[in-house]
Amino acid sequence: MPPRRSITPAERETLRSELVHDIALADLNGEFLHRPRYQHRTGARIVSVRKVNLTEMFGRFQDQWSPKIVGEVNDSHVKLTKLKGEFVWHHHEREDELFLVVKGRLRMKLRDGDLVIEPGEFVIIPHGVEHLPVADEETHVLLFEPNTTLNTGNIENERTVPELERL
Ligand code: NI
Repeated sequence: MPPRRSITPAERETLRSELVHDIALADLNGEFLHRPRYQHRTGARIVSVRKVNLTEMFGRFQDQWSPKIVGEVNDSHVKLTKLKGEFVWHHHEREDELFLVVKGRLRMKLRDGDLVIEPGEFVIIPHGVEHLPVADEETHVLLFEPNTTLNTGNIENERTVPELERL
């Protein structure tokens, strides 16, 4: 194995254009359905492009209150989680959190009132704001938040998940 090195800006540009080219080509040839993930190797890293189906991804796990990483956007993670019951009051010192409800209903308790988030709706909880997610029925939620975000924020208890699985 050659030693790892970081990618140069010129290589990054080349990689980006190759990636776009390959996807377009594959699509024209009708191969897109058979090869949904494209990987490109450079001296430094492999990048992949895939299409994500939320129904399929939510079907891959059953456990509740255990967010799974399903994508990355720069320094943020896209996560999926299933919620039922009541979580724990907490806040995040630095991270803002987006909760997008895909199925069910999320009651986001805040110190000055509750918000009910229905499927197709989202709420952003700014850092520092105390919140308590509650779901009377099982609720499927997409989270978008910085990759440093701990699910229980400033609290550590049995609900804390320090290492997240990936889907
Ligand atoms: Ni939170």
